[in-house]
Amino acid sequence: MKKKVVVTGAAGFIGSHLCEKLVSDGYEVSGIDCFTDYYDPARKRQNIEGLLKNDCFSLIEQDINSCDLLSVLAGADCVFHLAAQAGVRRSWGAEFSHYVQLNILATQKILEAIRKLGGIRLVYSSSSSVYGETQDLPMKEDHRLRPISPYGATKLSGEDLCELYYHNYGIRYVALRYFTVYGPRQRPDMAFSRFITSAFQGGGIEIYGDGKQTRDFTFVSDAVEANVLASRYEGDERVFNIGGGSRVSILEVLEIIESETGKTLNVEFTQRALGDVTDTWADTSRASSELGFSPHISLREGLAREVGWYREYLGV
Ligand code: UGA
Repeated sequence: MKKKVVVTGAAGFIGSHLCEKLVSDGYEVSGIDCFTDYYDPARKRQNIEGLLKNDCFSLIEQDINSCDLLSVLAGADCVFHLAAQAGVRRSWGAEFSHYVQLNILATQKILEAIRKLGGIRLVYSSSSSVYGETQDLPMKEDHRLRPISPYGATKLSGEDLCELYYHNYGIRYVALRYFTVYGPRQRPDMAFSRFITSAFQGGGIEIYGDGKQTRDFTFVSDAVEANVLASRYEGDERVFNIGGGSRVSILEVLEIIESETGKTLNVEFTQRALGDVTDTWADTSRASSELGFSPHISLREGLAREVGWYREYLGV
């Protein structure tokens, strides 16, 4: 019999790639998604078009906060919890209630269901944004955590909840702190998606600040591989940085995108965005020694693949 796993946020950018990998690895995958309208839900429907044709994948179109999680999770070996309200810069003001609902309350619901059912492992999708602004680079898992965005605070609360359910109930979990994931089907609000779309369709792009901020960009298949490794992990560590080993500035990214697309970007520099950290850089030595993780896709290669995907998607 095939092993059953559950993926929350199955129709999202990383979630849909993870489901494809798990199905091809021989798992029976139940994917939950409630198709929030943070960005066009039609894009999420496209993300899972192929999966819906596969008998080993089933879609549960429901909200974690209101569905019967006990029946959804029953019989599963592992829950990959990717569902979240994403987006660092939009997490201020009235929007924050969505972040609390989808990142904190939903995570607690998953943990409660796992507690009641017993024997299910959890792989929690966390974020580099839990570190906040720091000059102590590269970032290590045991560094001080002081998020500077409401989004980062909710992702850290999710980690804290995992840890306290582990402490009190022995629930086995692994939290993966992703560093700015990119690649085909990347969320349309993210930097590369916006830059590539503008390169092909015209219109200007805004750079928040001077463009010298850096990110340790991570290709989506590397983030997916980290999830698979985490689901099999038997050791004692619980939190891992997952970075792509491709730390570059946004200015450098612009050059690569111009050379990959053959277009000139129309760039306007605006104010730095509140909540954005200046630099991220992952120390992945723990993920390497404990999980056997190493990123395989360089930024040039990964950007070429994302540009190629956008060419097809936009029909250009
Ligand atoms: C990304 C994801 O959106 C978060 O969900 C995730 O948790 C986070 O990575 C993480 O690593 O923890 P971010 O690094 O802000 O957040 O990713 P992008 O939206 O791709 O932005 C990258 C950089 O480009 C940022 O410095 C941002 O200020 C800049 N940017 C983005 C612009 O200058 N202009 C834009 O139009 C968009």
